[in-house]
Amino acid sequence: MKKTITIFGGTGDLTFRKLLPAMYNMHVTGGEGAGYDIVIIGRRDYTSGEYRQIARDWVKQFSRLPFTEEKYKDFSEKIEYYRMDFSDPAAYEGLENYYKERGLSEHIFYFAVAPRFFSTIAEGLDGIHEAGKGKVILEKPFGEDLESAKELSRRLEEIFAPDRIYRIDHYLGKEMVRNMQIIRFTNPVFANNWNRDAVSCIQISAMEDVGVENRAGYYDTSGAMKDMVQNHLLQILSIVAMERPASFKGEDLHEEQLKVLKALRPASGETIRDMLVLGQYEGYREEKGVKPDSTTETYAALRLFVDNERWQDVPFYIRTGKKLGRREMEVAVIFRQTEENGENNVLLIKIQPMEGVYFQFNIKRPGESEEVIQTKMDFCQSCVVENRINTPEAYERLLGACMRGERSWFSQWDQIEAGWRYVSGMKRIYQEENLPIVTYAQGTSGPEAADQMLNTMGHSWFGQDD
Ligand code: BG6
Repeated sequence: MKKTITIFGGTGDLTFRKLLPAMYNMHVTGGEGAGYDIVIIGRRDYTSGEYRQIARDWVKQFSRLPFTEEKYKDFSEKIEYYRMDFSDPAAYEGLENYYKERGLSEHIFYFAVAPRFFSTIAEGLDGIHEAGKGKVILEKPFGEDLESAKELSRRLEEIFAPDRIYRIDHYLGKEMVRNMQIIRFTNPVFANNWNRDAVSCIQISAMEDVGVENRAGYYDTSGAMKDMVQNHLLQILSIVAMERPASFKGEDLHEEQLKVLKALRPASGETIRDMLVLGQYEGYREEKGVKPDSTTETYAALRLFVDNERWQDVPFYIRTGKKLGRREMEVAVIFRQTEENGENNVLLIKIQPMEGVYFQFNIKRPGESEEVIQTKMDFCQSCVVENRINTPEAYERLLGACMRGERSWFSQWDQIEAGWRYVSGMKRIYQEENLPIVTYAQGTSGPEAADQMLNTMGHSWFGQDD
């Protein structure tokens, strides 16, 4: 009997850019994935040999470890291509026979497809005897809105036990996202000041320089709120804002994160214009696959409040967008300043492209002057090259965790539900109030309205904005 990971959507970008390179890395390092056979499901007419050849170039380009022909050959022999129309319920009988013939069992099914196919695939798998004992990994978005997400979850849980469903949010696998709780809780200098008395605001930025690329079919029906805010960014916010969990594992961690999501101050018709700015980059409507009159947002900036004792009235600013001037994902904790001549202390956790921690503080200008100047301690984790090679990438880490049955760094259904509820509510009110989707120039830091949203509270985005 062989452990098997079956990837539905095996000819898509995610499989080529992330999943196969992650499996290759695990093969090379002898990580969990090394013990798995890989079945690629796709509709295109490839032989396994042809598919392995196509995958080779992607693995070469995207794996974090040095590529060698010999290692790839060894790895690629574990990959089999199985041609099938996964939207056809009748096709699953053939898949079951295929598994039986090859002695493939102990299954992980990876749904690397658009959410509208999730139920169909799950139902198809329901007919396969061994499948229900397996695990299933879902790629976000989990559903297309709150209702479809609920229905999907209900349906999946009829087929797979809840603890066998792994909802992947790859941001939770990023090194510096995992580091946030250590930085905060093991350093009393931060832990003791992580509250409304000491913090002026918190900023979470996920800026991208790429556009929709070849994903317009999906993206144009989704937009930044569903694509980034509802999942990745609310996850990060909830990790930053949570109370200390009883343990940093599974349920304890999820419970504290969920409390944060439930404490988010709801938007209303009066407050929405101070809470949300949506934008679209110039030229988006001309992108291949985008509707010429599309009102999908490619940028979102939010001002949120967590209504609890620790954070009452401290703004949490979030922004994300495509075709911006730079790629940068970071969390900035801006501390209050009470002395007139000092600037705010800032703790910056850099998630990507460079990983590191930066702390800005005040000192005296050297020499006779008593002038207060700002300086920084800047720890560049990515500069330690060895570290980069040893640091598993997000998908590699999360695939390994699923294989070991570790659930802490996957999204729970109730977190997703709270995220959907909040994000859908905000978007609905934004539309009801006829607020505009502001056009912004490519290569900038997004719409000016997003800067104004901070300025009205005496804040501005931290960092090198234009
Ligand atoms: C994905 C989104 O989940 O995350 C993409 O669907 C986005 O639109 C991507 O580009 C960003 O991921 P990363 O790891 O490159 O920051």
